[in-house]
Amino acid sequence: MRVLVVGRGGREHALCEKIAMSQHVDEVYVAPGNPGMEGVATRLPYAEEDHRKLVEFAQTQGIDLVIIGPEKPLVEGLADRFVQAGIRVFAPSQRAAQIEGSKSFAKNLMMKYQIPTASYASFRELEPALDYIERSPIPIVIKADGLAGGKGVIVAQTKDEAREALCHMLRDRKYGQACSTVIIEEFLEGEEFSLMALVHEGLVICLDIAQDHKRAYDGDQGPNTGGMGAYSPVPQIPHEAVNQAIKRILEPTAQALVLEGTPFTGVLYAGLMLTAEGPKVIEFNARFGDPETQVILPRLESDLVEVLLDVLEGRTPELKWSPQAMVGVVVASKGYPNGCTNGVVLPSYDAERGLHIYYSGVSRDDEGQLLSEGGRVYLAGSLGGSLEEAIDKVYDRLDKHQQPGLFYRRDIGRRAMQALR
Ligand code: AMP
Ligand code: GLY
Repeated sequence: MRVLVVGRGGREHALCEKIAMSQHVDEVYVAPGNPGMEGVATRLPYAEEDHRKLVEFAQTQGIDLVIIGPEKPLVEGLADRFVQAGIRVFAPSQRAAQIEGSKSFAKNLMMKYQIPTASYASFRELEPALDYIERSPIPIVIKADGLAGGKGVIVAQTKDEAREALCHMLRDRKYGQACSTVIIEEFLEGEEFSLMALVHEGLVICLDIAQDHKRAYDGDQGPNTGGMGAYSPVPQIPHEAVNQAIKRILEPTAQALVLEGTPFTGVLYAGLMLTAEGPKVIEFNARFGDPETQVILPRLESDLVEVLLDVLEGRTPELKWSPQAMVGVVVASKGYPNGCTNGVVLPSYDAERGLHIYYSGVSRDDEGQLLSEGGRVYLAGSLGGSLEEAIDKVYDRLDKHQQPGLFYRRDIGRRAMQALR
């Protein structure tokens, strides 16, 4: 088989690596990928928005399966283009991808089908939104309706902060069209976790859970980012809570999308909060999580491509998981998420056996060295017999390669250790 992965980050690097390990796969292509992935996939010079070129390549080169990493091409209808061309794709249609692309779509669906989530109201005008804030307790959460590159969520600790966020969105249109509608949401308290399911219409196959660390600095301080590290499994989330999330959230949501005439195919990713009343939805995504994928796929012992084909054909695959824990620490450019400097020469990890390196923001210079380019540069991950062992292993290696110009959080996975104590 020939498989095409669309995207350019660490998530796609991990996907390509896992797909290349499949006994069914002869060739993995990635479009456009990054220079750090050249060992596991053949790169194509087509960007994610080059829908015509991507479909043309898949048609002329006999691609058997397409996987789309990022949300933007999904919301722009790339999966539909492949389907129209008769190419098998494990990704949602433009309409089904609204579950990520429009928070009001997701919220309305959850309301209608009684899927547990934070209570909310949506607004298109500033004045009523400001009035609503006056009447609501704090903290309170303000969200741009559309895609805002992970920046459209403000957890306001004060009413001033909430008012400011509303003004930025509804008056100043800080995120353009994405914030012409705003959701104001109840603040949920509890432990967060990510639960991803492989979905085809009513069939829902959940992966093991992970926890992401979204804030930039240690102790969950600093600005929100695309994710600074993750680990899997998440021992402080009981199995019972995961089962509840599957039964009350993932399965009913897939079913609801079928009933609404927008059946979902692909990864349905629920960002969940384990509250005192059980798991509730913080957000849905229509794709693999980043960096969750980088710590979940290395624990999957089954053949990923076989699993995806099973799901696409309506069969229930048996997933085999390694009992080992995996921790992944993101190395980012200093200044991230608020601008960054590029061009730091990256260490070679060739001699570091047992370490998983997934590149996201890198370029290659004339001598063939990888350089940092962008905010998140790479993720270093390690498996271990226990979470503690995995954490020690990854930091031991990372600390040997510390570089000015780059930084990483020192406490990825520690939260689980504290919760277990
Ligand atoms: P998102 O960009 O939707 O992933 O949201 C970023 C982060 O904001 C989440 O990971 C949560 O930590 C936090 N968040 C979003 N919605 C809520 C909520 N209703 N209650 C508490 N925290 C929230
Ligand atoms: N890890 C968060 C996301 O993929 O959206």
